[in-house]
Amino acid sequence: MKGIVLAGGRATRLRPLTWVISKQLLPVYNKPMIYYPIETLVRAGIDDILIILSPENSGLFLNLLGTGEQFGAHFSYAIQKEPRGLAEAFVIGEDFIGKDDVTMILGDNIFDEDFSEKIKNFKSGGQIYIKKLPTMEEVKRFGVVEIDENNTVLSIEEKPEHPKSMFVSTGIYTFDHRVCEIAKNLKPSARGEIEISGNPSVSNTFLEKGELKAFVFDSYWQDAGTFDSLLEAANHMAEKN
Ligand code: TTP
Repeated sequence: MKGIVLAGGRATRLRPLTWVISKQLLPVYNKPMIYYPIETLVRAGIDDILIILSPENSGLFLNLLGTGEQFGAHFSYAIQKEPRGLAEAFVIGEDFIGKDDVTMILGDNIFDEDFSEKIKNFKSGGQIYIKKLPTMEEVKRFGVVEIDENNTVLSIEEKPEHPKSMFVSTGIYTFDHRVCEIAKNLKPSARGEIEISGNPSVSNTFLEKGELKAFVFDSYWQDAGTFDSLLEAANHMAEKN
């Protein structure tokens, strides 16, 4: 199992904090944000990790993270020239992934969960990790996953106006190597990005093949991309320490 941390993007919602520094280098309590997704992958037993960056601050990430030795991992780096969507990680990462499986995590997503069991048991297809959110307002910000009583995925919709469920796809995903070919052939969605959860998207492609599994978890998760969620994540980590 290979790992990818996707840490490019524009971070427009955190301006002016992110005019001259990347979001994933901002502090979340006592660590730079990107430490958390890296530690989530390492905790899941993944030690061969590709870090995808935007060109602007890539040197700072290299200075900070180096070879990955301090995390007990091996890091490689790649650049995404323009933020063309989350699924572009699998196009950029094609040579790195090769014939292996891959778990991709977003560079601004913070978890307490230990995903090692679910990732160790991955066989093929796609696997998403979903969480029930308390309010419709929150649900509407994410990829909404409709499931039946056996946790079989019925539909996935990105930021729907009328969500069919309270479960959302969080920022960690596991796919077999076919994800690269699927991502290369995806058409951009209405918002002009190649997507993981939208329509079309890599998750929906695996869903149409009947090869998408969803695992529900209930522990802490935060997408730290807004002022309020960044503050909340810092407070959570401060309380834990
Ligand atoms: P987002 O938070 O969706 O996008 P963003 O970081 O550009 O922020 P904003 O919406 O405020 O402008 O991205 C989630 C994560 O994925 C984050 O770590 C940035 C990363 N990302 C990329 O690396 N490349 C991309 O093409 C996109 C869309 C996001």
